[in-house]
Amino acid sequence: MNKTAPLWIIIAILSAIIVVASYKFIAAGSTAASEDGRTAVLLSKAERQSVLTEMRTLLEATQQVVKGLAENDMNAVIAAATPVSSKGHGTVDFKLAAKLPLGFKKLGFATHHAFDDIVSMAQAGQPRDEIQLKLVEIMDKCVACHASFQLPEAKE
Ligand code: HEC
Repeated sequence: MNKTAPLWIIIAILSAIIVVASYKFIAAGSTAASEDGRTAVLLSKAERQSVLTEMRTLLEATQQVVKGLAENDMNAVIAAATPVSSKGHGTVDFKLAAKLPLGFKKLGFATHHAFDDIVSMAQAGQPRDEIQLKLVEIMDKCVACHASFQLPEAKE
């Protein structure tokens, strides 16, 4: 029997732990099945509040972008979209990020990046209907995420 065998076993076990831990951190999130068929994302009270607050900010920004487009006021469009773009976004809360499943994070990031596009399109003076179509694309993501995920109240 080779003397280094136990070392390899330890390395193999450690690697397996790292793989499982990174999967948990990046992809799995903290989830459960919910009664309405969506995936319930299990957050603490404060984390849920912060996600829902961000949601209401997104709704308000969307309303302001629609208004700016209707009034042909591109400065208003830029002012509304910037705070919800990836630039206006605060620091990443790693504890919260670990609880969000990969599909949720992807849709969330894509939404903020699409608001970057709204800002640059408005700055470049692109036609309003093009910007409107970009907003439709964003709202497809709102719809898709709401159809897939739910945020039950924490039982703590
Ligand atoms: C990455 C996923 C995701 C994206 C993208 C997303 N939402 Fe949400 N949103 C949620 C979840 C999950 C909830 C909670 C729904 C539930 O528990 O039934 C929620 C709730 C909300 C609420 C209710 C807030 C409250 O106080 O209860 C509003 C308003 C909202 N979203 C607006 C939007 C708008 C507008 C967009 C697009 C610009 C958007 N959301 C994009 C996941 C998302």
